[in-house]
Amino acid sequence: MTHLLDWLDVEEDDWKACILEALAFGEERDRAWGRHDGSALGMVFFNDSLRTRVSMELAASELGVRSVTVTPGSGTWGFAWDEGRPMNGDEAEHIREAVGVMSRYCHVLGVRLFASGTDRTADVSDALLTRFAASSTVPVINLESASRHPCQALADATVLHRHFGEGEDLAGKKFVLSWAPHPKPLPMAVPNSTLLMATRLGMDVVLARPDGFELDESVIDAARRQATTAGGSFSETDDQNAAADGAHVIYAKAWGGFGRYDDPESEADLRLSKSDWRITSETMQLTDGGQFMHCLPVRRGVVVDDAVLDGESSLHLDQAEFRLHAQKAILDWLLRDRNLRDGESAGDGR
Ligand code: CP
Repeated sequence: MTHLLDWLDVEEDDWKACILEALAFGEERDRAWGRHDGSALGMVFFNDSLRTRVSMELAASELGVRSVTVTPGSGTWGFAWDEGRPMNGDEAEHIREAVGVMSRYCHVLGVRLFASGTDRTADVSDALLTRFAASSTVPVINLESASRHPCQALADATVLHRHFGEGEDLAGKKFVLSWAPHPKPLPMAVPNSTLLMATRLGMDVVLARPDGFELDESVIDAARRQATTAGGSFSETDDQNAAADGAHVIYAKAWGGFGRYDDPESEADLRLSKSDWRITSETMQLTDGGQFMHCLPVRRGVVVDDAVLDGESSLHLDQAEFRLHAQKAILDWLLRDRNLRDGESAGDGR
């Protein structure tokens, strides 16, 4: 059974096919209208969302897939995660039964489950997402976990292909992922997936972040490997202006440092002292006619100046639009996979 938890687990052919499908859905929104009529998608949102929730519900609907969304603890039972302990707390339902039941109703599940912010090992390894998927008997789509946001990554990859020309090689394009200021220590799912997306596309990728805001070494190692395989490059710097020099893309994202796990006060002091990492018109002037990207939601005047977002060189709304097209490509891939398996097993066994 294929899950989409992290694109690192997915073969190159499937990743490329999903980009092409997402591009095609962007050109012709109704091209697969009702293709998966009779299928059901169940989504569990442990955290808030605008884009992911709306675009997944619409993506499903346009493919003929019925969707249901639950938010544990708010109109749905709170879910317990502990193993081997009597459930004497507030939570009425264990994750094993909750996901098991949803798997009986639905042909594919989606889950949004952010980082705890307190258990670094569990967050980096996406331990809760892994347990959720282990309880499912149907494919699971990661709708943003502690450590990855594959739906965002596919949408962003598709927007890059579309912007720079669908047939054009992205090799030689300088892609800067820049840390950005924020009042909260946000998780690392988006920067991790963004770095892995851009290196997989063979771009010349620069990670610009102040000391204290490094990404996990496992992600950096994977980014290096992918850059080598794809014929691009990867480097890190704490000099944002040097990174922006000659860039074709500035992708801004805020995240909290790993200091949040053992010394949150120092992490907050450091983070709040770096407000000059905000992306401004001056930053963009250093680029080679560069495009601004952000996954949204974005804090205007904190992460980026209004003039950049409202100018002609920002792709943030395209990125949001392509969430719809990308997730249709993902649903279509996973449901076609399931239909093939069902067809094969019906042929073998009955
Ligand atoms: N970018 C993104 O995932 O947006 P939401 O958090 O609103 O879903």
